[in-house]
Amino acid sequence: MARNIDCSISDARPLDTRCLEALRGRSILRLTDLSAAEITSLLALARALKADYSAFRGALAQRALVMLFEKPSLRTRVSFEIGFQKLGGCVTFLDHRNEPIGAREPVGDYGRNLERWCDVIVARVFRHETLTGLRDNCRVPIVNALSEIAHPCQALADAQTLLEHGIELESMHLAWLGDGNNVCLSLMELAAIMGGRMTVVTPASHRPCAKLAAEIDAIAARSGATITLTDDPAAIRGAHAVYTDAWISMGQKDCPDKIAALRKLTVTPEIMKIAGPHARFMHCLPAHRGEEVVDAVIDGPQSIVYDEAENRMHAQNALLLALLGAIPSSRGVPANAVEILTHHR
Ligand code: CP
Ligand code: NVA
Repeated sequence: MARNIDCSISDARPLDTRCLEALRGRSILRLTDLSAAEITSLLALARALKADYSAFRGALAQRALVMLFEKPSLRTRVSFEIGFQKLGGCVTFLDHRNEPIGAREPVGDYGRNLERWCDVIVARVFRHETLTGLRDNCRVPIVNALSEIAHPCQALADAQTLLEHGIELESMHLAWLGDGNNVCLSLMELAAIMGGRMTVVTPASHRPCAKLAAEIDAIAARSGATITLTDDPAAIRGAHAVYTDAWISMGQKDCPDKIAALRKLTVTPEIMKIAGPHARFMHCLPAHRGEEVVDAVIDGPQSIVYDEAENRMHAQNALLLALLGAIPSSRGVPANAVEILTHHR
């Protein structure tokens, strides 16, 4: 496992265990289901996990996770499965790529069965309303593993990665280039909640969903965040990180007009120069080399894409520990876990 970042806990961020306790039993469908304090606490826990998993051994013993995936996955599937098992839990994966959730029996009935066997459900869906249907009919937490409008676990892992690279969420300038998609919306939510700045560069025809962008603007108005939507790449000047993603997301039709409109937003060394030499390059992956990014950037020294991939597991495990009430001072968590987290107070 890549360990080129210092994850020691000596400079740990403060951990508010009350925030983590308040997450017990909740569902996370969008990042806006979390407050700034909760995100900060989860990131501190994620950092503690990354520093020393042995302290959390057995924390999820006897717990069961069910994964429902209507779309393909590498990172999300592997990081949830291995992550949950590292903490002592067991995982069942249900492949819904050929039979959407709700096709064989209604979504609510499905959830009311699953809750009898498992402690948490992680689902990747085509329609966000499948997630709300599960949440509204289940007594166990539902976690969004990607829908057409949100990818909150990705944003949480990206927040951990930004912090590791010295970029504070409250003062960050994050630049997005490409399609205004699900990952973009979750990162906009991150900036809005934490009070940072985000510049979203898309063709006018592929801006983020206007209704959701308005909701995010309202959050930004309260936190002091600045979210700018533009079609001008010059607006990324000075950004701490430049982020891109697939132009055609899973479930979207291949569309030559869209590709043509996005061509000027390929992240090249010239685009990275606009942000500046300090800027990091980020991508949730999988990358489509030669489309949204070229090899020289994704394989270059500014790229932190594999740190993002690694942190999926740590950030998600922090979330799962909190949603399942397996945090320090809860029964069943080993004493040395309490010890390691005490360093974060
Ligand atoms: N970033 C991400 O969610 O990757 P997968 O689609 O491989 O899970
Ligand atoms: N926007 C992409 C993200 C993949 C992780 C998609 O939804 O396909």
